[in-house]
Amino acid sequence: MSAQSYVSELFSLEGRVAVVTGGSSGIGRAITGALARAGASVVVVARREAELRETVDELTAEDCRAAWVSADLSTAEGVRVGAEEAAAAFGEPDILVNCAGINLRPPMTELGEDVWDTTMAVNLKAPFLLGQRFGPGMAERGYGRIIHITSQQAHRAFVSSGAYGVSKGGLESLTRSQAEAWSPHGVTVNSLVPGFVLTPLNARLQSDPEKVAALAARTMVGRNGLAEDFAGAAVFLAGRSSAYVTGQSLFVDGGFSVH
Ligand SMILES: NC(=O)c1ccc[n+]([C@@H]2O[C@H](COP(=O)([O-])OP(=O)(O)OC[C@H]3O[C@@H](n4cnc5c(N)ncnc54)[C@H](OP(=O)(O)O)[C@@H]3O)[C@@H](O)[C@H]2O)c1
Repeated sequence: MSAQSYVSELFSLEGRVAVVTGGSSGIGRAITGALARAGASVVVVARREAELRETVDELTAEDCRAAWVSADLSTAEGVRVGAEEAAAAFGEPDILVNCAGINLRPPMTELGEDVWDTTMAVNLKAPFLLGQRFGPGMAERGYGRIIHITSQQAHRAFVSSGAYGVSKGGLESLTRSQAEAWSPHGVTVNSLVPGFVLTPLNARLQSDPEKVAALAARTMVGRNGLAEDFAGAAVFLAGRSSAYVTGQSLFVDGGFSVH
């Protein structure tokens, strides 16, 4: 067997269908590109159409299979409609990546019910509802991969973690609950845990070069994260070679969490 076909046996996503929420920006966009280039047909779900179109156009220009659905995942109805439209593009997904997320950072004293509710809706309830919609079908078919993007803030407080950290802590618990439910049927469920990644999500924090340098110094690798750092880990967790890895949180953070 050639090296190429061995690697492909381990990691190819040829013939798989993936849905990536938040796949039009930052970490989600890098994961979308990785899954599509590894052979999957990928449906990207987010709100803004220009970014969605640009993401899909870039991939179809490379002969990858990709489609987009504009949906607001902050409401149950938005999730429901978005999920149906996503499944209509290439069929029921084998891979679900929950990457859409928001980080609103009011100080705890000023954290109101509105920010709490919106944060929980996008970061935690949408992944739950999408799991309910797609998980049982994956289990019935005997193959599925669910990947949640959580945060180091599931594990520690960091720059007004507020509702955000709570939502990500819940998402890691959801990872274990879904893994318990569906792993016996070939559906693994894992979390990727970023540290500080240079994306539009934390543009405000990035405008302070001293803070950015201090955060880089807290890693072991000596730099902050880039969206592309998630490509390989996502392909691994989406593919057949991760069949015995489930309920886990994989830190892709340059050693930030253990330094
Ligand atoms: N960057 C970091 O340092 C970092 C650290 C830890 C964890 N994370 C997590 O990693 C994930 C990706 O973050 P990122 O840094 O790549 O952020 P980003 O560049 O801001 O991307 C966020 C994505 O989520 C989508 N989204 C947001 N609200 C949505 C809604 N209501 N409905 C549908 N889609 C929605 C956005 O598209 P639209 O706005 O067009 O809807 C966009 O595609 C998030 O879950 C985040 O919490 C990031």
